[in-house]
Amino acid sequence: MTWHATVLTLFPEMFPGPLGVSLAGRALGTGLWALDVRDIRDSATDRHRSVDDTPAGGGPGMVLRADVLAKAIDAAELSLERPRLLMSPRGRPLTQSRVVELATGPGPLIVCGQFEGVDQRVIETRGLEEVSIGDYVLSGGEIAAMTLIDACVRLLPGVMGKAESGTDESFSHGLLEYPQYTRPQEFEGRPIPDILLSGDHAKVAAWRRAEAEALTETRRPDLWTAWARQNPPKSKTGG
Ligand code: ADE
Repeated sequence: MTWHATVLTLFPEMFPGPLGVSLAGRALGTGLWALDVRDIRDSATDRHRSVDDTPAGGGPGMVLRADVLAKAIDAAELSLERPRLLMSPRGRPLTQSRVVELATGPGPLIVCGQFEGVDQRVIETRGLEEVSIGDYVLSGGEIAAMTLIDACVRLLPGVMGKAESGTDESFSHGLLEYPQYTRPQEFEGRPIPDILLSGDHAKVAAWRRAEAEALTETRRPDLWTAWARQNPPKSKTGG
């Protein structure tokens, strides 16, 4: 079955948005993946179609109602056991390895949070896995959901051609990507590093590896520590 994402949102008009353009958009058009967007408000039960209410215990903002969201999830969930995600700044940070897992499965159901949050009881009873895309707060979960879907879709079979292939890219080996250059050979007095034009593939690979390591060490000490632990420097004395 085709990989598909089901999105529950209060703003269905935001989709497909950027997912309808470029790599993901082309793949959507050719049926390599599918997007099923549903309006949470369609599951409201009262005359005013209300979806939120004030937080129990007081405080600012509004909370998405458990009954309304549960009804929306139950209506959307098909027989397949699919991951159920809730985009939220308090979730576990999204990583490339989780993206790979999600891209390998049938595709997730994604709830886009809004307001001050979602009633805790629906998170628990519907087994929602909270996912964050970074330590900053967006106005809603939609852009976060698009980010996650985009990261998955580009990994689906047939989506990336050889030209866009991501085998060497940042995170896939635990290092940030090395710097890239192309024509012109000189730009504002800066030439392309000689080694890249040498035709010596082993030297090019060694240079790129050293650049990637240096970048990772200065920019991402967290990634560097993990990578260095798994790739200890080779002993010069042999053995
Ligand atoms: N909703 C608001 N902020 C978010 C974040 N950083 N990640 C995921 N969902 C969010």
